Order: sequence, then C-alpha cells, then structure tokens
Amino acid sequence: MIFGKIIDKKNNELSKKIDNKKVPEHVAIIMDGNGRWATKKGLPRSFGHNKGVSVLKEVLKVSKNLGCKVLTVYAFSTENWTRPTKEVDYLINLFNQVLRNEIQEIHQELIKIKFIGDLTPFPEALKKIIYSSESLTKNNNSFLLNICINYGGRQEIVKVAKELALQSSSGEIKPSEVNEELFNSKLLTQGIKDPELLIRTSGEKRISNFLLWQLAYSEIYISEVLWPDFNEFEFLKAIIDYQSRNRRFGGIESLHNESFEDSQCSS
Ligand code: IPE
Ligand code: IPE
Ligand code: MG
Repeated sequence: MIFGKIIDKKNNELSKKIDNKKVPEHVAIIMDGNGRWATKKGLPRSFGHNKGVSVLKEVLKVSKNLGCKVLTVYAFSTENWTRPTKEVDYLINLFNQVLRNEIQEIHQELIKIKFIGDLTPFPEALKKIIYSSESLTKNNNSFLLNICINYGGRQEIVKVAKELALQSSSGEIKPSEVNEELFNSKLLTQGIKDPELLIRTSGEKRISNFLLWQLAYSEIYISEVLWPDFNEFEFLKAIIDYQSRNRRFGGIESLHNESFEDSQCSS
C-alpha cells in the first residue's frame, strides 16, 4: 500500500513535467524482452509474455489518459514463427484468451481495436474473436489500439507494390499515378497518422521489420527496461524525452530569424 503511494507520487511528479500541448498523437511500441525477463527469474518464457499483457493494459490506460489518440503495438512479427512451436502456440492462445477477457472493458472505454497483419495463418477461433472484437468496437472514437500480429514491414510494402502492379497492368491506374499518397492509401495502416514516437524496450536498437514505411520520421526512444518491467513511470519518461526533441523533418531549426544569407555573411 505504502509502496503504491510512493509510485503514485513519483508518477505525479513526472506527469507535471509533461507539456499537454505536445503529447504525441500516435505512439508505436516494440514490446520486447519478455523472454529474458522470465529467464532472469528462472521462469519459463511464457511467464514473461503473461506479465507483458498486464503492462500493455497499464500503458494503454496511461497513454489514453495523457491524451494520445493511437497506440500501435508489435505483438507478433512475421519472423516470430521461427520460434519453437510450443512458444508460438502459447502466444496464439494468449491472444485469444486476453481478447476474450478484455474486449468488454475495451469497448466500455470507447476504444476501437484493430489488428494489423496477415491473419490468414491463425486458427479460426482466434480469427473469429478478432473479427467480432473489431466489429464490436468499430464505431468507438476515443482511442485506437492497433495490435500488430503476423506483421512485417517488408511484407506490407511488397503487398502494396503487388496491388499497384496489378492495377497498373489491368489499366486501372497509370504507372505515373503511383506516388506516396497512393502508396500510403494501400498500407494496412491506411487512414492512420504516422507514429510521432517509437518506443522499443529491452535496450535493442533495431526496428525488427516494424512499420518500415510509417516510421520514416518517428522519434525513437530506446528503453533499457524489459517489457514486463515497463510501466507508467517509464512511459512518462519516454514522453518527456520525446518532448525535448527538435523535429526538423530535413529542414533547419528556426531558432532565430536570421536568413541563410545573413548567417553566411557573419561567418
Ligand atoms: C517480445 O519479447 C514478445 C514477442 C516477440 C512475442 P520476446 O519474446 O522477444 O523476449 P526476448 O526478446 O526473447 O527477451
Ligand atoms: C520484435 O521483437 C517483435 C515483437 C516485439 C513482436 P523480436 O524479439 O522478435 O525481435 P529481434 O529478434 O530481437 O529482432
Ligand atoms: Mg525479443
């Protein structure tokens, strides 16, 4: 109880440092480190995945309360099928169970849930609960939770390229009509603003085939904390760090009114 109060106090102090006008609308997260967390504790990797679910629930709540509008999480990559069958089966079962247990609350919170990735290889039971959850929450507009499963950024880009090639060969579009806007409109994230912030936990400094197109100009925050130990405090730290960044998008910082010519003359 006392411990809980100390944590609340720490979080409150950090919250005060947040500029409410600069909260990212869309945060993407590579939730990594579940297995290492469990192994460090001498537990099977599945314990890490389980604990990871409760962390996701906490981060969902915090990001929504903070004023973010979209949270996109990487839950299973196209490369994760190479893991032992037992672990893959465990994860598929976990997605199924969690969705069943949580969907009513998600709906009550007016959260829209969307699954991003190729769902074809998943068992029918999981696909059924996914489709019914998406349909139940489709009109909710307080927050969007995207869960990426069997998702790969390269596969997504190839899929769009194929679609455009087909449309072009059938004469539906001209090759000259292919541009960023058209390409974007065919991505699985179509209609969703690109993430301003990408968080990866567990200290790994790579993208691992996540949202390759969409992350073009996202700010990247690497947390050393393993996902099962991630929490509100760590999320707030990431937001504060993001708010200190100078997002230039290839341009130059406009700190003063000095023109390019003026600065050349004075040097
Ligand atoms: C992330 O944790 C969850 C998934 C990829 C499903 P990991 O399972 O990758 O955990 P580590 O990276 O092996 O510790
Ligand atoms: C990325 O983590 C995928 C998910 C978090 C779902 P991985 O653990 O699969 O990535 P690598 O193998 O460290 O690149
Ligand atoms: Mg990992």
